[in-house]
Amino acid sequence: METMLVCVWLVSSLIHTISGCSLSAHRGVTGYTGGSVLLPCFCTDGGTITTSARWLFEPGPSTIILWSRGGVDDPYKDRALISDSPGNMSLRLSDLILSDGGLYRCEAGGQFRDITLTVKESLKNPGCVFSDSGPIPITGSTGHSVVLPCACTDVQKKPEQIKWTADLGNSNTVIFPQGPTSGNDRYKHRVQLLDSVSPGNLSLRLSDLTLSDEGTYRCEADGHYRDIKLTVKGCVFSDSGPIPITGFTGHSVVLPCACTDVQEKPEQIKWTAVTEQQSAVIFPPRSSSGRVQLLDSVSPGNLSLRLSDLTLSDEGTYRCEADGQLKKIMLTVIHTFEEFCLKV
Ligand SMILES: *[C@@H]1O[C@H](CO)[C@@H](O)[C@H](O)[C@H]1NC(C)=O
Ligand SMILES: *[C@@H]1O[C@H](CO)[C@@H](O)[C@H](O)[C@H]1NC(C)=O
Ligand SMILES: *[C@@H]1O[C@H](CO)[C@@H](O)[C@H](O)[C@H]1NC(C)=O
Repeated sequence: METMLVCVWLVSSLIHTISGCSLSAHRGVTGYTGGSVLLPCFCTDGGTITTSARWLFEPGPSTIILWSRGGVDDPYKDRALISDSPGNMSLRLSDLILSDGGLYRCEAGGQFRDITLTVKESLKNPGCVFSDSGPIPITGSTGHSVVLPCACTDVQKKPEQIKWTADLGNSNTVIFPQGPTSGNDRYKHRVQLLDSVSPGNLSLRLSDLTLSDEGTYRCEADGHYRDIKLTVKGCVFSDSGPIPITGFTGHSVVLPCACTDVQEKPEQIKWTAVTEQQSAVIFPPRSSSGRVQLLDSVSPGNLSLRLSDLTLSDEGTYRCEADGQLKKIMLTVIHTFEEFCLKV
């Protein structure tokens, strides 16, 4: 019995010396939309947190690292305040929205504590309310723009705060409003609130779409939110076998390749030449001396390529690739009549 007590004491004092801190424990905290809460996490024994420390939201398959010594994650930048004193890493979260509800984990020195935050509707000021619905599916295509719909049930009601965020699989980014320190240039000049007449219509236009814009977008206002699931379609080539093209030495030839919608803007365009001597990427060109040139500057989806100053060694297969699509051109090069006669 005594040895066991000694053991328990030994183990606990060992943990104590390793971490220098024994974390406080709290189970649940409740807050109201628009208000703020303190999620407590500190050393109960006056110890200090010396090792890595962080706050996680929804620990699990899609954990969000809300705060770590490096700083506060972008979507929480203006709402999360850490009491970063040596033994206290309590988190104050303000402007609460319903989707803030969930499990929070405070981690320090190999220990962690979980706190469940419940966010309730503030009855004092319901603000902008969205009609109940799951994520809204929206489809757009590359190069075009798309409207992400979002409106308060009363479109004349002006929300106090509006925020649009994008969840692109591995990161969460504020895309509207775009502050000078927004830290994400990808959406700069591409987002615009659409309706200037109804203050409660928060629909957002996202222009110049690329495949990597695909993801879930969230519109937030006055503690409420609405999710939009955006699918982006890319360039599609018409189905056809290799296209035979014939060119003459010394002349130029057009290798045809286009998305079925020539207004689509493929994210990456690549032309590869597979000839007897080499297999090489010819577009985008490695050098400026090139003999290759994209032809159509008006339609981003027209990837046709001009190949000039043909020689016999240009003969081969040309592969046009964009957005995972592939089109093959079989180029045959023959001597021009004059050249042929000169040789004979
Ligand atoms: C920790 O910091 C919070 C916020 O600054 C404060 O309210 C709280 O009293 C502190 N707790 C301790 C134990 O110092
Ligand atoms: C919000 O504005 C968009 C663009 O002007 C419009 O298409 C949409 O119908 C409006 N939504 C509501 C609910 O008024
Ligand atoms: C692509 O551009 C070339 C050269 O301007 C033109 O001849 C061709 O018709 C265009 N293709 C399509 C599908 O518009």
